[in-house]
Amino acid sequence: MRSLASLPIAGQPVPGAASAGPGAGSEAAAAGARQASAVGSTLDLDERIRELKRERNAVILAHFYQESEIQELADFIGDSLQLSREAQRTNADVILFAGVHFMAETAKILNPTRTVLVPDMNAGCSLADGCPADKFAAWRAQHPGAVAISYINCTAEVKALSDIICTSSNAVRVVQSVPAHQKILFAPDRNLGRYVMKQTGRHMELWPGGCIVHETFSQRKLIALRHQHPAAKLVAHPECEEPLLDMADYIGSTNALLNFVVNDNAQAFIVATEPGILHEMRKRAPHKQLIAAPPEANCACNECPFMRLNTLEKVCHALERMEPRLEMSDALREAARLPLERMLALSP
Ligand code: 13P
Ligand code: SF4
Repeated sequence: MRSLASLPIAGQPVPGAASAGPGAGSEAAAAGARQASAVGSTLDLDERIRELKRERNAVILAHFYQESEIQELADFIGDSLQLSREAQRTNADVILFAGVHFMAETAKILNPTRTVLVPDMNAGCSLADGCPADKFAAWRAQHPGAVAISYINCTAEVKALSDIICTSSNAVRVVQSVPAHQKILFAPDRNLGRYVMKQTGRHMELWPGGCIVHETFSQRKLIALRHQHPAAKLVAHPECEEPLLDMADYIGSTNALLNFVVNDNAQAFIVATEPGILHEMRKRAPHKQLIAAPPEANCACNECPFMRLNTLEKVCHALERMEPRLEMSDALREAARLPLERMLALSP
C-alpha cells in the first residue's frame, strides 16, 4: 500500500519552484502550486476512496494490468484465477472490480449476493468481444459430442454455453482432465489454445480469437533487444503469438510470470505481457532489471486499452454513487456458474 506519509502534501513548496531567475518566480510558483494541487487532489482521492471503502464495507479487487495507483489502493491484486477465488471468498458487501467486464461478471457469478461495481462499463476485452454467444453456439452445434473449454476471457453467455472454463494458470490441467477419446473445442484464444496443444499433445479445434495487446509484440524488435541484453530472460504470457512463445524462457499467467521474475536467479528479464505487471514486479524484485517487450509500432499499444479505462476518479465515483453495477439474470448466472465451478474444483 502507498503510505500517505510518503507523499508530498498539498500546499507545501515544490522543490525548485522558488529558485528560478528574475521574472520566472511567479511562473515557477504557479507551476509549483499546480503540481502541488495535482498531488493534493490525488491524495484527497486516495483518502476519499479509503473512506468510502469503510463506509460501504467494500473491497477493491484489481488485476495486475491496472494503473499502479489503483493497484496500490486495492485490497487484493492478482491474475484472473486469483481474483475469481478472492471474489468468491470475500465477506465484504461490495466488490469494486478494477479489471475488465468479464472479470466483474465472474465475481458476480461466484458471489451473487454481493454488489459488484465496475468503474467503467466499457472496459471490455478483445477476446470476449470476438466471440459472440450466437456464433459460439453455432460452432458448438457443428461439433456434436465435443467438450467445449472456454478461456475465462469470454462473456457470461459463452461461459453458460461451455462445459468448463480455464484461465492461463490452469488451462493445461483443465485440458488434461478431458478423457483422451473426446474431441475438444477451445475458445476464444487461439494462441493459448495452440500453446496448450503443444503442452498436452491433445488436438483441439480452436476459435480464431486473439488479444489485441499480446499480438502486438514485435518479434523483430525482441530479437534486437535480446542481442542488447544477452543475459536477460524472456518471459511471456501464453496469449502471445507462437513465434514469440517459441523464443521465451518461461511462459505463464501474469501471476506465474511475477513469481518467476522474483524467484529465478537471472538479474534481467524482458517481459512480454501488459506492462501494468511491472509495478508489482519492481516492488517484489527491486534490484532486477525489467524491460517491457516492445510493440511493433511506436505506440503504447502494449497497454490494454480496456484495462486502462479505469481511473482513480472512476473508482471513487463508483463507490460514491454505488454504480455502475454489474447485474445479470439468475438464469444466466446459474448456467455460467457450473463450468466455472468445474474449473475451480480442478485448480489447487
Ligand atoms: P491472467 O489470467 O494471466 O491474469 O490473464 C488475464 C488477461 O486478460 C491477460 O490478458
Ligand atoms: Fe483482453 Fe487482452 Fe486486455 Fe487481457 S490484455 S483484458 S486479453 S484485451
